[in-house]
Amino acid sequence: SETELHARITAAKTTLGDRVVVLGHFYQREEVVTHADYVGDSFQLANAALTQPQAEAIVFCGVHFMAETADLLSRPDQAVILPNLAAGCSMADMASIDEVEDCWEQLAEIYGPLDAADADGLVPVIPVTYMNSSAAIKGFVGRHGGIVCTSSNARAVLEWAFARGRRVLFFPDQHLGRNTAKAMGVPLEQMPMWNPRRPLGGSAEADLGDARVILWHGFCSVHRRFTVDQIATARAEHPGVRVIVHPECPMAVVDAADEAGSTDYIRKAIAAATEPTTFAIGTEINLVQRLAAQYPQHEIFCLDPVVCPCSTMYRIHPGYLAWVLEELVAGRVVNRITVPGDVADPARVALDRMLAAKP
Ligand code: 13P
Ligand code: SF4
Repeated sequence: SETELHARITAAKTTLGDRVVVLGHFYQREEVVTHADYVGDSFQLANAALTQPQAEAIVFCGVHFMAETADLLSRPDQAVILPNLAAGCSMADMASIDEVEDCWEQLAEIYGPLDAADADGLVPVIPVTYMNSSAAIKGFVGRHGGIVCTSSNARAVLEWAFARGRRVLFFPDQHLGRNTAKAMGVPLEQMPMWNPRRPLGGSAEADLGDARVILWHGFCSVHRRFTVDQIATARAEHPGVRVIVHPECPMAVVDAADEAGSTDYIRKAIAAATEPTTFAIGTEINLVQRLAAQYPQHEIFCLDPVVCPCSTMYRIHPGYLAWVLEELVAGRVVNRITVPGDVADPARVALDRMLAAKP
């Protein structure tokens, strides 16, 4: 039962003490988050992993790419554990390393050698990957002069990339790429979508000629559910409502909202509101419900009336958390996530560039 699991997790954590640190993503259910030593977005949690020098194990209650990032940033002797190995991210899975390498080869055929700078010192294409991608993709980006971004720093990262390249190949999330570039004044005609199934030549060259941002076809299955109609309904039913959505939402939704911003932006906006305010939020339901409980002076609701948790995050059931912790008590490390060195080194380069690019 839930009470039993709670007791087992608490007991195992007490036995392990400082030897383990449990990290919980904002999108995790309450029964998991309640056991987390740190709760945050994927970037904050990666940093939290860094600040736990005494921990032998980092139990990451999030999805696979986050655990990989924690492994990249933690010490080699620290084991990063993902309680359920089936907790992936459908968006991260939309950019496989094979597809991206294939795309890169085709871009080289269109633009010429991709590492050759022109008279202005700009290379033809800088690859930019969203944090929500595999370590292999981050490694690819690191090897090709590119950089990682999060939803909090996407604009600063695109500026970094435009200072070094004629254009950007942005993956996996088309919406974050489009929304960020649009806010920077890039016209939609200069943001073609890469189509891996379209053969090279012909329209591909024509479309890509004056591209500034080449978008990948990925999306977040949670955030793409939000609609302009939901915003219209919220405005009709709650005059004066403040609508804030995540930039992983489709462009029309971002345009119809009052503001768009990362998880961190949404939290800060609510925390900074001095007058009682009604907020309609377009992001994952567990986070919205937690914010609503945390700020009872405001009315805070999710734009999507049908509950929309992230189904893969949801795979971190408390039963798995109890299991991995009890295995640690017994001296066994299960579900360890390890990024091999040939991928890890360039992936760290791409992450370090992001850290140096300033948020
Ligand atoms: P952050 O955790 O970086 O806020 O990203 C949002 C998200 O979709 C998590 O998978
Ligand atoms: Fe991936 Fe979206 Fe879930 Fe985040 S919310 S883990 S981007 S599917």
